[in-house]
Amino acid sequence: MYRFYSCLVLLSSLCLTSAYRPVVIVHGILTGADSMLLIVDEIQRHHPGTVVYNADRFEGWSSLENAWHQVFEFNGDLQKICEKHPDGVILLGYSQGGLLARAVLQTYPDHCVKKFISLSSPQAGQYGTDFLHLIFPSLVAKTAYQLFYTYVGQHTSVGNYWNDPHHQDLFEQFSIFLPYINNDLPSTNSTLFRDSMLRLEQLILIGGPDDGVITPWESSHFGYYNGTDDVIPCKQRKIYLEDRIGLRTLDRDGRLKLITVPGVRHYEWHLNTDVVDSVVLPLLD
Ligand SMILES: *[C@@H]1O[C@H](CO)[C@@H](O)[C@H](O)[C@H]1NC(C)=O
Ligand SMILES: *[C@@H]1O[C@H](CO)[C@@H](O)[C@H](O)[C@H]1NC(C)=O
Repeated sequence: MYRFYSCLVLLSSLCLTSAYRPVVIVHGILTGADSMLLIVDEIQRHHPGTVVYNADRFEGWSSLENAWHQVFEFNGDLQKICEKHPDGVILLGYSQGGLLARAVLQTYPDHCVKKFISLSSPQAGQYGTDFLHLIFPSLVAKTAYQLFYTYVGQHTSVGNYWNDPHHQDLFEQFSIFLPYINNDLPSTNSTLFRDSMLRLEQLILIGGPDDGVITPWESSHFGYYNGTDDVIPCKQRKIYLEDRIGLRTLDRDGRLKLITVPGVRHYEWHLNTDVVDSVVLPLLD
């Protein structure tokens, strides 16, 4: 389900002449559509007439449901939106929502997403106690794998993208989501996952060193820890070098944009008007 913010309250002529692409928004973990209303408002204030869809599925605790389940439901919603907007839409996901939204477009072979914006999302996974304590106060990063890399642990979205650099064997053995959607492990869908990414006109990955929740913050750019906790940037990792999901091709064609914004805390990307206006809005022109 999506809350649809139409332009009916505005002059309809404005709607008809609107030059702005429709925007589809997916919220972060433990919150819902309401948490993204500032972005909706800013879009409509600066770009009047823009059609905005703000996902209201999997709000609150249900945002912890299995990632594949969420992806398939969102996928059905996006199909309906694409039927209405064959000329294309912009997809924007915040935090966990940016990882799920990417998986949605990767599992949708003829999607209409022209531009995908990932707003501080754990695209390469997540490994950090601070983040964990927001949801599971008694877990610590070092031992969380014992819960997450199990059949039961894989029932939660966090378990699905928990990427413990010290237990990569278990990650690949148990995680049913991230190693597949990132084509670390080949599957019958590997080609689909890559080809669907390559349909994008632009892939924009936003993150910053002061985020405080996404750990390492470089995961927002597909960077990640190696086995000795050093962060390897995206362009030195296999996912890029081997072009597993098309990042290298997109980059070669000038379609990949990595944006680093210092000084922004995780909750400011979508809740601070200055950040929304200066970082997000210019990308929607
Ligand atoms: C591949 O995609 C199909 C249809 O989306 C799905 O049923 C199947 O589980 C997927 N397999 C893998 C390994 O992702
Ligand atoms: C991780 O990367 C650092 C810096 O590139 C390197 O010195 C270290 O040996 C690497 N560790 C592993 C386990 O590859």
